[in-house]
Amino acid sequence: MAEKYNWAILGCGKIAKKFSTDLKLLPNANLYAASSRSLKNAKDFANEFGYEKAYGSYHEMVNDPDVDIVYIATPHSFHLEHTLLCLDHKKAVLCEKAFAINSKEVKQMIKASKENNTFLMEAFWTIFQPQFLKISEIVKSKELGELKFVKSDFMFNADFDPNKRLYNIDLGAGSLLDIGIYPIFTSLYFLGKPNEIKTIANIRSTGVEDSIAMLFNYDNGAIAVLTSSFESSCKNETELCFEKGFIKVDRNSVDPILMNKNGNDQLLDFDAILGRGYELEASHVMECLDNNLIESPILPNSFSLDLMEILDAVRKEANIIFPNHD
Ligand SMILES: NC(=O)c1ccc[n+]([C@@H]2O[C@H](COP(=O)([O-])OP(=O)(O)OC[C@H]3O[C@@H](n4cnc5c(N)ncnc54)[C@H](OP(=O)(O)O)[C@@H]3O)[C@@H](O)[C@H]2O)c1
Repeated sequence: MAEKYNWAILGCGKIAKKFSTDLKLLPNANLYAASSRSLKNAKDFANEFGYEKAYGSYHEMVNDPDVDIVYIATPHSFHLEHTLLCLDHKKAVLCEKAFAINSKEVKQMIKASKENNTFLMEAFWTIFQPQFLKISEIVKSKELGELKFVKSDFMFNADFDPNKRLYNIDLGAGSLLDIGIYPIFTSLYFLGKPNEIKTIANIRSTGVEDSIAMLFNYDNGAIAVLTSSFESSCKNETELCFEKGFIKVDRNSVDPILMNKNGNDQLLDFDAILGRGYELEASHVMECLDNNLIESPILPNSFSLDLMEILDAVRKEANIIFPNHD
């Protein structure tokens, strides 16, 4: 039987709730501790999801010798600090995306993982999703020829509130790091790092970017057209265009993938999953620990660094600044 691991939550917010619901589905995951800046919040969270312990500070939690893996679910601007806190206490880390605010911070996190010989992975759940695996299969098979265009959008309408994470510059706000990261992830995964980046961004008087359009150019002649926004809604589709056809997916849907080959449409199913999909990344972390790995072979930290280097380059082009980090 696989080893059982004690999981702890660092930051009991919205995504931590969704993650905990999925974590419960895994027989080798023990929901062990919830930690929050407030003991009441930690207790409420622990009661709601069945965590055994509740801590009113993150420091207390990392000092518990029985914690094996920490899921970091705080705003991006704290990911560096909280990752270092956990790694320095030899706790394996699954840290939410965006991995940090910039590549300088990601490099510090990777260094700490190596120095402490302790596992670190970005919680970039998309890479483990059956929908994404199916698309990857098609791209790799080259049955549609070479990939020439990646068109990918992620938008939703979020009411402006400078105190909330999405619009609070001190918490790493803006659509780019929150949701623009997904279209960029897709282009990086399938086309690599671009050689040229152009952007148009809307930046509010508070300094927060709320909408951005990006154009990436690649050495092999491929192009990516990517958008993200908190100002409007769209279908949130990704379309990959090849020499002999295209694939179209809706990232938020379980509908089959549309593939068009030589002018003919077909619908491709992909495997169903039990939860929202967060259980897949959590399960992978435990598989890595079963194999004494400090890095995932599927989502290596070098990939997360590449992703952040593109985000840095986009921000430079669009003049998006995080005052306490740049
Ligand atoms: N993978 C995904 O699908 C997905 C989806 C949504 C968000 N995310 C990522 O998850 C992270 C958290 O997002 P969220 O939507 O869950 O945020 P959230 O609801 O605002 O929660 C963040 C939590 O972080 C803690 N925190 C610590 N210092 C804080 C501070 N100064 N201000 C506010 N909160 C602070 C708080 O927990 P305590 O009060 O309990 O300490 C808070 O509840 C972000 O990096 C985001 O990009 C990922």
